[in-house]
Amino acid sequence: MRKNIALYSGEEHRFILLNESEPGEEDGIPSNQFLILHKGKGTLLDPGGFGVMPQVLNELLQYVQPEDIEAIVLSHQDPDIVGGLTTWLRLCSAKVYVSRIWQRFLPHYGITGMKQRFIGVHDDGENFTFASGLELQFVPAHFLHSPGQINVYDPIAKILFSGDVGASEVPSENCEVFVESFADHLPHTAGFHKRYMASNRALRYWVQQVRKLDIDIIAPQHGPLYRGQAKEDFLNWLYDLPCGADLLDVKEND
Ligand SMILES: [Fe+2]
Ligand SMILES: [Fe+2]
Repeated sequence: MRKNIALYSGEEHRFILLNESEPGEEDGIPSNQFLILHKGKGTLLDPGGFGVMPQVLNELLQYVQPEDIEAIVLSHQDPDIVGGLTTWLRLCSAKVYVSRIWQRFLPHYGITGMKQRFIGVHDDGENFTFASGLELQFVPAHFLHSPGQINVYDPIAKILFSGDVGASEVPSENCEVFVESFADHLPHTAGFHKRYMASNRALRYWVQQVRKLDIDIIAPQHGPLYRGQAKEDFLNWLYDLPCGADLLDVKEND
């Protein structure tokens, strides 16, 4: 189990990778949880499934008390993101940000009080300024894989939290914090992107948006992070990748 890692540390602003959580008995894929600290307040990105919640809380308490969590961002609707949310909602009074298209589905996780706590993010993306003064840019990443996925760009840390884009499954004993060589990393991530991502059109659109941002690190919800040459190689690979619906074998005049 690796330790928490400060990906960015400024005077009143930090971007922390909380140590990668094993879902334990749920036998699921390990996930990354990220905590942005700004002027003493915390923003939690993709809090994780039900099984990892106690461990994520344990790590988070080293930095911030639950009452000082001002926002929780859900990149999309999946159980490895939302499964622990009911417990988080009881512990803190944070607002929860999620794509508008998923708001009506979340009550099925047993979540109540949606109207007071949840903010639906517009399809085109939005910029938000939280009570601490933290400014975050919510970047659309639709159809990758979720029809309503949002990425989070932190312009101070120059980190893009990319949700499931760039996700990989690397055996935990070999899992470094950053991808060293994208060519070596490819077998851990190619199958997931080909099967789960909707289409090359969606990938290209995303890569074009991402290239407009000044990004040092792309931080996915699963597996190691991308920076430097590995980040460039990753973006170039995605731009040309046929995936999802592109791979359906549609016969003309069938
Ligand atoms: Fe997902
Ligand atoms: Fe995921």
